[in-house]
Amino acid sequence: RPCCHDILRVLLGDVGAGKSSLVLRFVKGQFVEFQESTIGAAFFSQTLAVNDATVKFEIWDTAGQERYHSLAPMYYRGAAAAIIVYDISNQASFERAKKWVQELQAQGNPNMVMALAGNKADLLDARKVAAEASSSFPAIVTRRNVRQWHEAQVYAQENGLFFMETSAKTATNVNDIFYEIAKRLSQV
Ligand code: GTP
Ligand code: MG
Repeated sequence: RPCCHDILRVLLGDVGAGKSSLVLRFVKGQFVEFQESTIGAAFFSQTLAVNDATVKFEIWDTAGQERYHSLAPMYYRGAAAAIIVYDISNQASFERAKKWVQELQAQGNPNMVMALAGNKADLLDARKVAAEASSSFPAIVTRRNVRQWHEAQVYAQENGLFFMETSAKTATNVNDIFYEIAKRLSQV
């Protein structure tokens, strides 16, 4: 293992949930409101200081559209880590994320570090604010948010993933999730 640089490879899985937006935020510090859907896959790299080491992330940002599904193994095979992304405002994207986890458990590198990212957490904040401000649905909206967060947390624990809610838009937990991956990889 080289002394100062760990070269890692991270794959980002799943549908129109914000994979490209997360990687764009991490690599360039930018957010685009109308991010184009990825065709095939895109490659990025970024370095991050973790304790005394500099970790270089080489990231494959895959396309979530179903017609590209068969390409996915090319990108996750050999990957040391994967971030499986869903959109917290879209239940179907969470179900899709679970399918990705199953596929990685069956066919991915057995030592792979997996992270589950509940992206668009800013939308949850917006819902909370709206709920507090109006008298119509507060309890229901809040309970649903908490239940959904809990469901994802329990799922992640049961499947050996770590879980964070992220927002590419506000940058919440974006560096943190990559940092956590780097930390876990250096423990493997
Ligand atoms: P594919 O490439 O089609 O698989 O999609 P993707 O997962 O790469 O999603 P993408 O990054 O293209 O984001 C889809 C849409 O969601 C874009 O319009 C983004 O602006 C928006 N988006 C992404 N992340 C966030 C977020 O954290 N908050 C909000 N509010 N919108 C987001
Ligand atoms: Mg994309």
